[in-house]
Amino acid sequence: MNTSYITIVKPDDMHLHLRHYDMLDFVLGDTVKQFARAIVMPNLNIPIINTKLAINYRNSILNALKNIKGDIKYFEPLMTLYLTDLTTADEILRAKESGIIFAVKLYPHSATTNSSSGVIDLFKNCSKVLEMLQVIKMPLLIHAEVFDHRVDIFDRESVYIDKIIIPLRKKFPELKIVIEHLSTKEGVDYVYSSSSFTAATITPQHMLYNRNIIFSGGLRPHYYCLPILKSEAHREYLVKAATSGDKRFFLGTDSAPHDIKAKENNCCCAGCYSSYNAISFYVKIFEEAGCISNLEKFASFNGADFYDLPRNSQTLTIYRNENVVPSELRFKDLTIVPLASGETLQWHV
Ligand code: DOR
Ligand code: ZN
Repeated sequence: MNTSYITIVKPDDMHLHLRHYDMLDFVLGDTVKQFARAIVMPNLNIPIINTKLAINYRNSILNALKNIKGDIKYFEPLMTLYLTDLTTADEILRAKESGIIFAVKLYPHSATTNSSSGVIDLFKNCSKVLEMLQVIKMPLLIHAEVFDHRVDIFDRESVYIDKIIIPLRKKFPELKIVIEHLSTKEGVDYVYSSSSFTAATITPQHMLYNRNIIFSGGLRPHYYCLPILKSEAHREYLVKAATSGDKRFFLGTDSAPHDIKAKENNCCCAGCYSSYNAISFYVKIFEEAGCISNLEKFASFNGADFYDLPRNSQTLTIYRNENVVPSELRFKDLTIVPLASGETLQWHV
């Protein structure tokens, strides 16, 4: 098949970092062009730990939306709360009643960017919150990696599933759980073995590349994200899962912009900026897998269905049109190197 364009129901990005201030103004337009809604991560420098902060953050996103050039102004940020050891069940109820918060994000303490307020002991400190989430059917989004120097960085997801997710599921059989940025065969197999209360997002970077790219001809910081890219066998397994049409897998870019100074640094921040070409990447992955007919399920239906949101009514058209990913993007004094910079893509939004 060599069609010149594809039209699908406008996708949602179910895992996105929009940041704040200038960075927010910089990156928001890329998402709005391609997505109708996005689940917005709460790991700002001052984490979004309560409803009031989420309302304020949402207002700054809506304000930034007003400054976007072009005619596409419709975009709905779906806010999340950052879980801490001190979060109360009442706060979760307030979040639900606000009507603007759609999930709670669990960062294990120290696991990734801005996770120093993350959870130290989930079972000891968060049981009431977990119970409440199960009752109100609000998804718990998990950065599923143990932070333990004795555990190899490539094994942190599978160890987290064994140590935390399996016991968590036993205690809360109907809690909605999304394993974010799934990166391993073990993770995919866990989701396959689960009920419809478990789902997972999959990023473009974990399906486009294996870990060799981080070390190709030198150390390449722009391919460093967490969970870290895995070996080829894991990559292939993820592509199979994402492109299968299975309802439990859906699109989440984990697009995580960092200024070039923080990436090309003695201690490089984790994160790939994938929003710039997000949909073109996913089209490439689905086309190469021979499963383009499942793209709409993965990108536009499965996530909305899992979150009990209405499916979008607008559409998005992607054209076959060769284009080179820019080496850098600039805004004010910020510079981002987008994922796949310098590579040629066959599809364009
Ligand atoms: O690579 C990542 N970047 N992984 C995360 O979990 C966080 C994110 C960020 O916020 O930069
Ligand atoms: Zn993330």
